[in-house]
Amino acid sequence: MNSPVEQIKERLSIEEVVSSYIKLDRAGANFKAKCPFHNEKTPSFFVSVDRGTYYCFGCGAKGDVFSFVEEFEGLDFKGALKILAERAGVTLTTFNKEKEGEKERLYRIMEEATKFFEKNFADNPEVIKYLKGRGLEDKSIKDFRIGFVKNDWRLLYTHLKSKNFTDKEIELAGLAKKTEKGMYDRFRGRIIFPISDSSGRIIAFSGRIFEDDGKSAKYLNSPDTPIFSKSAVLYGLDKAKESIRKNNFSILVEGQMDLVLSHQAGFRNTVATSGTALSDSTVSKENVVSNLGLLRRLSLNIVLSFDADKAGFNAVTRAGKIALSFGMDVKVVAMPEGIDPADLISKNGVDEWRKAVRESKHIIEFLLNKVLNTYKEDMHKVGREIKEKILPYVDALESSIEKSHFIKLISNKSGISESALIEDLRKVESELKKETEDTKIAKENVEKRMRKDPILRRLLGIAFWQESIKNKMIDPELIFKKLSKAKEIYKNIKEDLIYEAEEFYSNSENLEKDVNEMLLNLEEEYLNEEMSKKMLELQNLKDRKGEADILKRIYEINKRKEEIKNNRGR
Ligand code: UTP
Ligand code: MN
Repeated sequence: MNSPVEQIKERLSIEEVVSSYIKLDRAGANFKAKCPFHNEKTPSFFVSVDRGTYYCFGCGAKGDVFSFVEEFEGLDFKGALKILAERAGVTLTTFNKEKEGEKERLYRIMEEATKFFEKNFADNPEVIKYLKGRGLEDKSIKDFRIGFVKNDWRLLYTHLKSKNFTDKEIELAGLAKKTEKGMYDRFRGRIIFPISDSSGRIIAFSGRIFEDDGKSAKYLNSPDTPIFSKSAVLYGLDKAKESIRKNNFSILVEGQMDLVLSHQAGFRNTVATSGTALSDSTVSKENVVSNLGLLRRLSLNIVLSFDADKAGFNAVTRAGKIALSFGMDVKVVAMPEGIDPADLISKNGVDEWRKAVRESKHIIEFLLNKVLNTYKEDMHKVGREIKEKILPYVDALESSIEKSHFIKLISNKSGISESALIEDLRKVESELKKETEDTKIAKENVEKRMRKDPILRRLLGIAFWQESIKNKMIDPELIFKKLSKAKEIYKNIKEDLIYEAEEFYSNSENLEKDVNEMLLNLEEEYLNEEMSKKMLELQNLKDRKGEADILKRIYEINKRKEEIKNNRGR
């Protein structure tokens, strides 16, 4: 029987998988597209049907169906495997428990906890009554797997112990805390919203207080754990992603209730940040960038809807500016003061929410209207506010055509001349240089972090895997000694890499041959990179000094490439 990886590769072609995410155009025997992993106007992303791989000449993204899904959806290898297996109709063999790694145990504990909360929910009619009163239908409750836990010290803990999870695991999953008096549950007396990653695995919980005691926080979230990073997750994404692609826009709301009700109202393209995630300045720009980057890959159009309070406004402004700089089209839903989407839907009806979304305005127009309404009598103030609060958004726009479009719009609406606006824009530009630079750096860091080097990862995975078993098929040092630097960098995802290598190679009869081939491929890749660098150096040479050295190196590189080629022939 072929391994799941092999079965998936047989059943799903690369063009089929990639084209379900982005639009592919034929280019000879292959396909090309605008790269989803960086911002570009002309296509430099190529899909090779024969080889089952993709490569971007613009940013260097490359890999196979698995790495594509990983990178596109922000998942680890197992997450991508889960998505592709479901799609190909391949059953993933359940883990043999001894081999189960730490992360695997955590996913399982979260699933077990979810079931426990769901069951409690059904046993507590007063909670059902409350949620129905807020407009939730049975189906939504079931689909979102909403649950409940009574206000008691260790209901969940006791349950998980009975399922053979250890104290350490329960604590690591962020579900209980240890004190002198023993373990006690983190979530008590709360309605539980499970949070999934984009492959649908539950990675965290958000719990809403059920009986307000006047001192506990309204919402309590899971802490960061090995499978959850608070600020890097969008609630509802697993259910929203198809619809975002289909409808070609996403709606971003603030809270869990807003999300569930918006889905229920037919906007299945809604995702939510967990509350402060976008406005909180302690949440790094990189996290905001990575959340928005994920949405941008799904669609360039985004509609932001946040509470009309100050934190909500900050969230809109921060996220909005970054999204604009990604070349996204950013709209904002105007909400009445003190009302959130959940209120609007449950009190005023679904149609009001539809109308609000339909009438959402481009963020610049939204902010402009706000300024004009607030200071309508005072033209002097209007001018200053436009410069301080609105021109920074014009500055953030990626396209100069759009910039001039909005300068015109602002001029028409405010009566300030275009030339005065342009002059101010220039000043703003230089003032905001640092911020623009910061965003650029954050973007590059996220791209770098995402960038997967499939050959490198696989080789290291094989080495880590062989290192960890008794009957070795190959000597891991063979790989480690060539990749010592990368070994350090990838050490922290060792478990993932081992899993990946096992999935790919445990049935392989010629592991050694495969490894040698990969080492050669990698070397060839490095040589090609060095070659382009040397050629560039040669072109930019100011005088003849150093020319001989460069030429010598180019000669060596070519020679080595030739050797590799001949080596393969044998
Ligand atoms: P809100 O206070 O606006 O709550 O916080 P809400 O979503 O309207 O909740 P309901 O309608 O009263 O049930 C918005 C979001 O901020 C996060 C939660 O994700 C919440 O949905 N939040 C809020 C927290 O994480 N902690 C808190 O103490 C409060
Ligand atoms: Mn609310």
